[in-house]
Amino acid sequence: MKISINMAMTLDGKVVRPDGKWYGLTSPEDKKQMDVYRSQSDALLLGKNSILMDNPVVKIRSIPNALNPRPVILLRQGTIPSDKHVFDESDHIPLIICTRGNMKEVKASLENKAEIFALDADEIEPKKITGILKRKGYKNVLLEGGPKLNFSFFEEDLIDRIYITLVPYLIGKTGLAGIADGMSPIPEFDQKNWTLTQSITKGNEIFLTYDKR
Ligand SMILES: NC(=O)c1ccc[n+]([C@@H]2O[C@H](COP(=O)([O-])OP(=O)(O)OC[C@H]3O[C@@H](n4cnc5c(N)ncnc54)[C@H](OP(=O)(O)O)[C@@H]3O)[C@@H](O)[C@H]2O)c1
Repeated sequence: MKISINMAMTLDGKVVRPDGKWYGLTSPEDKKQMDVYRSQSDALLLGKNSILMDNPVVKIRSIPNALNPRPVILLRQGTIPSDKHVFDESDHIPLIICTRGNMKEVKASLENKAEIFALDADEIEPKKITGILKRKGYKNVLLEGGPKLNFSFFEEDLIDRIYITLVPYLIGKTGLAGIADGMSPIPEFDQKNWTLTQSITKGNEIFLTYDKR
């Protein structure tokens, strides 16, 4: 199973606006490119905060007859509102992976909206997630952030490919996350450089693909 990350990033490396959301800084070309990546994936991993803050539309719109990847949401604590787009706009019922701590709460709020899989643990370890997704037969997983969820997968060396769109803005404010945001450096980050396998310029944006060496 292959896991790719897809993020848009400003010229100064930020993936979040000062208000903690991400909107309005990418072009229609980026949205088309995002649809291409989604159409090549069978599962779409989404971060809890990203769903709460951005309420992303996960349906592929620019590629006729493309099959949408199945949304997969990881909830370690609490739950999310059932009126988010992710529950209404996909071809598949989303899969929610939660913990023993929030299982009851998640079931009470989302039982009719998603398949719920509760881990017998309080943490959500990315390796367990990849195990579950592999067993379900997924081959190409696209992780669309946010930075905390990305970090937990980078930390365990589980990412095979990075798609980055460089958008022509510069925010400048300190403390805004980049594509991965954790409390410690990624282990041996300076021993693991990535190979640039594609670079496409469209208008003022660059679409970069980096693969694990
Ligand atoms: N520029 C872009 O392309 C782009 C794309 C996506 C998002 N974003 C931005 O990113 C912002 C949110 O990013 P974020 O980093 O705060 O949050 P996030 O990565 O979207 O979600 C993190 C949350 O997911 C839950 N979680 C469950 N399992 C986890 C695990 N194994 N590792 C880490 N988290 C896990 C945790 O919440 P609980 O412990 O509460 O369950 C955690 O706080 C959004 O507001 C959006 O604006 C930007």
